[in-house]
Amino acid sequence: MSETEGSVCMRNAATRRAGTLARHLVIKDEATGKQVNVKVSEGNTFKASDLKPLGVRSYDPGYTNTAAVKSSISYIDGGKGILRYRGYPIEELAEGASFLDVAHLVLYGELPNQKQSAEWESLIMQNSVIPKGVENAIAALPHNAHPMSALVVGLSSLGSFYPEANPAFAGSGVYKSSIVQDQQIARILGNAPAIAAAAYHLRTGKKLPQPKAGLSYAENFLYMLDSNGDVNYRPNPKLSRALDVLFLLHAEHEMNCSTAACRHLASSGVDVFTSVAGAVGALYGPLHGGANEAVLRMLERIGSVQNIPAFLQGVKDKKEKLFGFGHRVYKNFDPRAKIIRKIVDEVFATTGKDPLIEVAEALQNAALADEYFVKRKLYPNVDFFSGLIYRAMGFPPEFFTCLFAVPRISGWLAHWRESLVDPDTKILRPQQDYQGVWLRHYVPLNKRSSSQSQLFGPVPVTNEKKRQLQGTYTS
Ligand code: CMC
Repeated sequence: MSETEGSVCMRNAATRRAGTLARHLVIKDEATGKQVNVKVSEGNTFKASDLKPLGVRSYDPGYTNTAAVKSSISYIDGGKGILRYRGYPIEELAEGASFLDVAHLVLYGELPNQKQSAEWESLIMQNSVIPKGVENAIAALPHNAHPMSALVVGLSSLGSFYPEANPAFAGSGVYKSSIVQDQQIARILGNAPAIAAAAYHLRTGKKLPQPKAGLSYAENFLYMLDSNGDVNYRPNPKLSRALDVLFLLHAEHEMNCSTAACRHLASSGVDVFTSVAGAVGALYGPLHGGANEAVLRMLERIGSVQNIPAFLQGVKDKKEKLFGFGHRVYKNFDPRAKIIRKIVDEVFATTGKDPLIEVAEALQNAALADEYFVKRKLYPNVDFFSGLIYRAMGFPPEFFTCLFAVPRISGWLAHWRESLVDPDTKILRPQQDYQGVWLRHYVPLNKRSSSQSQLFGPVPVTNEKKRQLQGTYTS
């Protein structure tokens, strides 16, 4: 920032103290002469509240340069394309671990040993049957409801069955008990596949089968989708392993939109079921988890390799968005996208090749070679290829985001758990920079100007409404 009159000038003053580098910013308001020394912590952050004495606030729409929490769950280096869960590189976990073990790692900080792993799996299985009322709440929706809205309904209604774990009934201290915390974690993680399966069966019209013990998390999920209740049914092991790996790749991703939403809701002290349901709502959007569905619909629309140049021109003209490309944090390849690209071939070896893969690859290569995307550092993200796997596995596009939401629940719950013991946790309450009318006085309805322009647009009325409007009511 230039040091012009009236501006706030910032200078980075790094000084060495007792052998360690102690950094602080000296920030001076040239207009008032006021100055503050702001400490910079190890994570290159300073407290925004340290600027209060100057009477200024940071304005950061979209939180592009704001750390709202300290967290120890996952680490991303967006420039280098690195993702680690609790210090473990994502590539190593994808190679050898199961989703449930990774969920344990994300939630509790360690991969379980053999005994703990078996106990953890059994705890999740014991919590895998959903209350009948949750099933009924989902079944009450129209058969063509989007599965993500059904998932929101399922998860928020689930909380009603546990009033003893609801701070509104049981008091704000209820989550201080680690037993109560763990119980809700097991309930939500355990119930999630059956709730998503119930959302799936809204469309198929089939009955939700009971979960089956002895299967992996992903296997049991596929069992509930496909078995028709036949206990002898076993999902294809290659496909269930592929889904399990996809689950672990989606388990956690630090303070993305849905995780931030979960922490935001939880900061008000609301129950964890509502916090997780709110996070599902944030994930649903096409700029976030809904991108996997949007990518597939985009590829179907492009249809063939010849149509790519015209499509990309539309993107560059800002008429379209290239879904599955770009990321707030990754300015390089998303490491999950690289792993997913390999899984595509493994799944195709079982299901047969999906011809849309050629369109996807040609689209990726054309974008990566194009100045528009190069300049903006736009690379394929986790959602670019995952939809092709889901499609090859026979999932309808509207179900794809549920396949992201179910495993991401482990990340949301880990952040919820972390927030409960973080001494810095406060109700999240950003400020605004008010731009509206400063002050005016109330005018009664009959004195308001008749020439005031219409503020809302024409809302189409159905024929039924038009007919009703012709009618009259007698008292
Ligand atoms: N297609 C075309 N242009 C893009 C895209 C894209 N996918 N992504 C970013 N840009 C352009 C954007 O128009 C802007 O251009 P300009 O500088 O001319 O205004 C520039 O790149 C910077 O983009 P931004 O929107 O300011 O970046 P952001 O960090 O706010 O948004 C994003 C990140 C993921 C929302 C965005 O890249 C996007 O909309 N991508 C497509 C949707 C998508 O694939 N989402 C999944 C993200 S990864 C998984 C997840 O989070 O669930």
